[in-house]
Formats: sequence, structure tokens, C-alpha cells
Amino acid sequence: MTENTALWLNAKRADFTVAPAPYNEPLAGEILVRVRAIAVNPMDRLIQSVGDLMTPWIAYPFVAGSDVAGEVVAIGQGVTRFAIGDRVLGYAAGADKGHRAAEGAFQAYVVLKDYMSSPMPDHLSFEAGAVLPLALSTAASGLFEQDLLALDHPSAAPRAKGKTLLIWGGSTSVGSNAIQLAVAAGYDVITTSSPRNFGYVTGLGARQAFDYNSKSVIADVINALRGRNLAGALAVGQGSAGKCITILGACEGNRFVAMANPPASFDNVPAGKGRLWHLAPTMARVIVGGIATAFQARRNGVKTKMIWGSALLNSDVGPMIFDGFLPRALAEGRFVASPQPIVVGQGLGLIAEALARQLAGVSAAKLVVTL
Ligand SMILES: NC(=O)c1ccc[n+]([C@@H]2O[C@H](COP(=O)([O-])OP(=O)(O)OC[C@H]3O[C@@H](n4cnc5c(N)ncnc54)[C@H](OP(=O)(O)O)[C@@H]3O)[C@@H](O)[C@H]2O)c1
Repeated sequence: MTENTALWLNAKRADFTVAPAPYNEPLAGEILVRVRAIAVNPMDRLIQSVGDLMTPWIAYPFVAGSDVAGEVVAIGQGVTRFAIGDRVLGYAAGADKGHRAAEGAFQAYVVLKDYMSSPMPDHLSFEAGAVLPLALSTAASGLFEQDLLALDHPSAAPRAKGKTLLIWGGSTSVGSNAIQLAVAAGYDVITTSSPRNFGYVTGLGARQAFDYNSKSVIADVINALRGRNLAGALAVGQGSAGKCITILGACEGNRFVAMANPPASFDNVPAGKGRLWHLAPTMARVIVGGIATAFQARRNGVKTKMIWGSALLNSDVGPMIFDGFLPRALAEGRFVASPQPIVVGQGLGLIAEALARQLAGVSAAKLVVTL
């Protein structure tokens, strides 16, 4: 019998613990993957610290994590896209409503949905492939879900739409994927990042980049958008929504901001001691910030909506991305796995360190643990 090991959260706000886990057979429409690389996301930390508020449906003991790459070792009924031994990357859905611990990324053998997985070309390492799933899913949900920006879908030969999309935070993992998807869908992209990443974001396809820390950034972006037909804005990064609302209010076209961040960050809320002390003012900032954003949007004639990064799990966007678009785009080099992976080390025990380094901040990079 093959043995599995997982990084468990045994109760709400517990410490992460490496311990044996059941070896799960895939159900219909699922594949079982021997995990070779895992990337960490801000959400993995937040599930530990404020999961009882953000994901109250989670049943403990629980296995967190969304991003994996590895090899297929078993195939569920009805799966025809994959064979045993295939190299794949995929979105691990354990934290989503109605899903189970077997589907959390932080374990040696993970169950993935067939339609949320993509074959990986030989030139792509497991470490590089693992950076994609959640960031790509969040970008795709924001850009293509019908109740968000509802853009036209990406293709191998996109027709120019004659519309410009503003992507605030282009050097984030979400932004890096959003730039490439929007360009592959035929949109012109204007973005923001630190100046050291201007070359990175334009290399991904953005036409122009602006420093989000510059005092004149709002005026500069409005100038760059003058005379252009806007496809809307994807706002990534703390404080990005307000900036995008002001800009869209001064421009012509689709005045819609898809927001990746809540109005205040939960980053400083610890899972353990001092939690309530930090949580109460954060909640107050979220509520007040939400009301302020709603008023600002109304004043500027702009519509806003929060992105749920895995919305595509329950719509046609998931299969469109992971089956229809990504496999060929990766193989043909039309889509690159970005940002670059930084490997923290090998073993589930290093995930807590990767999460701490993620909290300290990364620039155009994603932290990865190998197994
Ligand atoms: N709604 C959802 O479902 C969902 C899903 C995934 C992520 N998110 C959120 O989206 C955000 C980005 O996540 P990620 O994983 O893509 O992050 P990430 O890759 O870790 O972000 C790092 C980048 O953030 C940029 N950055 C820092 N502060 C910024 C600001 N105020 N405005 C714009 N960019 C800023 C930095 O750019 P420079 O180095 O160029 O300065 C850096 O490259 C996080 O806050 C995360 O919680 C939400």
C-alpha cells in the first residue's frame, strides 16, 4: 500500500503539522497526482489565520494549498485527457466549498479535477509549472467570468479588440497571468509595477507600465488611456481598487473594476496569540473601506466586484483555460509560466517557512517547495 503524507491543519488556527494521510483513489472525473512541486499563496496563510471567517465551510482536519505540479499515478472513471505517467499542473480545490482534504495541495498524493489540470510540456519544470494554478485561475475568473469583466476568451490567433484593459499590479502572480491572458484575448494592456519590473511586465505583453508608487501615477495612467476605449480594470494589490475607480471614472468605455483584494489586508492577523487584538481593527477597516469604495464607485459611475479566485471551478471558464487554452499555449511558448519560482527547499515541513517568506514580500517571484 502506497503511503501518503500531508501538512495538516488539525483544527481552526492550529499549527501546520506533517503527518500520515490517507492514500485516496480518484473518483469519476478526477486524477491522482504524485506531487513534485507546490507553490504557496497568500490565501494559504489566511486560511490558517482567518479561515473561520473566509472559508467557514472547511471541515477539520484539513489540508490547505492550491498549486501543484507532478505526475499522474491513477485516473478516475471517465477521464480521457490524461494517462498514468503524464506530467501535469493543476488547481487543488480542497479549500473550495463541497471539496475534501484529499484535494488540498499540501500532500504527497493529491486528487485533482480533470478539467482543472493541464498537461505540461517537457521544457517546463515542475517548479515552474506549480506557480500557475491559483494565480492563473484568479486572473481568468476576473477577466472572463460573466459577472466580472466578461472579456472575450483567449485564443491562438487573437483578433485585436481595439480596447484597452488596465491591470493594476502587473508584477504580482495574478497580474502576470492576467497580462498574458488579456493579450491572448486580443486586448491592449496598460499596467503598473515597480520600475525594476517594467521590463518584466512589458515582456509579458503589456504595452506600457507605470510605477504604482509614483505620486503622479493616477494622472499618468489617465493620460495614457485618453482617447482609448476601456475594457475595464483588474485591480490587484492593496489600495488598487480606489486608484482604478478614480482612473475609470475619468475614461471612456467599460467602467468596471474586478477587485482581487478586500478593502483592508488580513496579513497582520496572527493565527495564535493576539489574534482578536489585530482582528477587530482589521474588520473595522474592511467594513469602513468597503463602504468608502462603494461610495467612491457610485460617485465615479463605476461598478465593482470582488473576484473569488476559484469561481472558474463552477463555470465554463475552468475547462476553457485548463483544457482549451493552456496546454497548447504552454507547449507553443505563447504563454509562459510566470513569475519565476524561487525554491525554498524540499519537504512539506518547509511550507511554513515559504509562507513566512511570502508574507515578508516577494517581487515578481513565487515561492515553491519541492517533494
Ligand atoms: N480574490 C482572490 O481570490 C485572490 C486570489 C489570489 C490572490 N489574491 C490577492 O491578490 C494579491 C496578489 O496576490 P499574488 O499571489 O499575485 O501576490 P504576489 O505575487 O506575492 O505579489 C507580489 C507583488 O506584489 C506587488 N505589489 C506589492 N504591493 C502592491 C500594491 N500596493 N499594488 C500593486 N502591486 C503591489 C509587488 O510588485 P513590485 O515588486 O513590482 O513592486 C510584487 O511583485 C494578494 O493580496 C492576494 O491576497 C486574491
